[in-house]
Amino acid sequence: MLQATALLEAASSGQAHFAEVVESLSTRGWCEIPDFLSRAEWQPMAVEANLMYANGGFRMAGVGHGTGMRIRPEIRSDRVRWIDPLEPSLLQQAWLERIEALRLAINAGLMAGLFDYEGHFALYPPGCFYRRHLDRFSDVSYRTVTCILYLNDDWKPEDGGELRMYLPGEAGKESYVDIQPTGGKAVFFMSGDFEHMVMPSRRKRLSLTGWFCKRR
Ligand code: OGA
Ligand code: MN
Repeated sequence: MLQATALLEAASSGQAHFAEVVESLSTRGWCEIPDFLSRAEWQPMAVEANLMYANGGFRMAGVGHGTGMRIRPEIRSDRVRWIDPLEPSLLQQAWLERIEALRLAINAGLMAGLFDYEGHFALYPPGCFYRRHLDRFSDVSYRTVTCILYLNDDWKPEDGGELRMYLPGEAGKESYVDIQPTGGKAVFFMSGDFEHMVMPSRRKRLSLTGWFCKRR
């Protein structure tokens, strides 16, 4: 009974999946939550992001960071728009509040020392992809947990654009899982532990990708 009350409270405050995320990150390092946000929650974000894109508010994504950042369309060909933490839209603000609550839950469960979050919308026009990579820059390691939220209506297998997650296995035997970028789905993983790629997408593919970071 007590547990049911706690679950209800967690659900109504938008923390329904937090325990599962914390548990999965600590045991196997990653998880896929198909209904992290309801349609009513994610679709307005998609509308807003598509509008910003139509108004020229996205830029070619780069590889690397700081002064070492380069545009390399042969490696990644998506377009991004960073969330400005000082001037988020109302919808972005709601997302930042939820992600802040999740950050605290992960810190409490994992002693992860996550200090802040940075995130951007990423849009892959048809034909675009992101080759196999690790989300951690080679020279710095503050990106600790990757958080991806998908914002696509009615994704179909023939649309491509899967997130291919490479899973290290015993005796160096690697396997992978392909995850469809269906609206409302979230994927979380330890940024330094899993190589992954975005398979060529046949449809416009939108996501909100971010990272919980340690103190720099
Ligand atoms: C990234 C990335 C995966 C995805 O932006 O670093 O790997 O499924 N995104 O959008
Ligand atoms: Mn990545």
